[in-house]
Amino acid sequence: MQKRLVRKLELEMLLSQVKPHPHPKPNLEQYTIPASIAANILYIAAYTYNDIINKNVLDLGCGTGRLAIGAAFLGAKQVVGVDIDKTAVKLAFKNSVENELKDKLQWVAADINAIRGKFDTVLQNPPFGVQKRRADRNFLKKAMELGNKVYSLHKSSHKNKDFIKKLKSANIVSVSPSLFLKKFIKNHGGEIKAVYTMLMTIPHMFFFHQKKKHEFAVDLYVIETR
Ligand SMILES: C[S@@+](CC[C@H](N)C(=O)[O-])C[C@H]1O[C@@H](n2cnc3c(N)ncnc32)[C@H](O)[C@@H]1O
Repeated sequence: MQKRLVRKLELEMLLSQVKPHPHPKPNLEQYTIPASIAANILYIAAYTYNDIINKNVLDLGCGTGRLAIGAAFLGAKQVVGVDIDKTAVKLAFKNSVENELKDKLQWVAADINAIRGKFDTVLQNPPFGVQKRRADRNFLKKAMELGNKVYSLHKSSHKNKDFIKKLKSANIVSVSPSLFLKKFIKNHGGEIKAVYTMLMTIPHMFFFHQKKKHEFAVDLYVIETR
């Protein structure tokens, strides 16, 4: 286990200053990851698995850059953030300048399928495939092609009320993978090291959101590729 060089609260404060998308598009599922969830992911990747410090990191579907900027802040060697949306990428660049981390970060406005190469670590909060079927699977497949280790966030199959209540107090809970993702990951040459569930809360953003805020469980898959 890597020594914790940055306090989680400090990381969360930095991430909360990374501005979200000003005009999120529903078809791209452009909601910004809450700072607390991003901090959990980065903390697990950096300090439980030693996959951030001095590593080459890729953030697929980076949006305005929370995961990428957080990785640079924690000590990644170089970080590349990719998003199909030019507005998001411009804002990600601006966010990295404001946080004085721009030298470690490269931003690419492109479809993830245009990306080639090999990275130590891929981080992603992909579209969950709610608006565009299979979007999450395309991201997962591409991430496993590009990364030696993959940290991928997915909508959880754990929806039961008691479990959600438990998550509110526990923050992070280890769970078993969904049968579908287990098979999908294995078929694409990956091995699941762990699955962590967290509670995600996003504000009312899109016309089809019916409540003021939307609260649901998300699963972080930690995957090693062969
Ligand atoms: C759920 S948002 C996450 C944004 C950011 N990573 C975060 O966690 O705050 C998904 C992102 O994927 C981007 N995206 C969707 N399809 C894409 C594609 N084919 N290639 C690249 N980016 C894509 C969207 O523009 C959006 O910014």
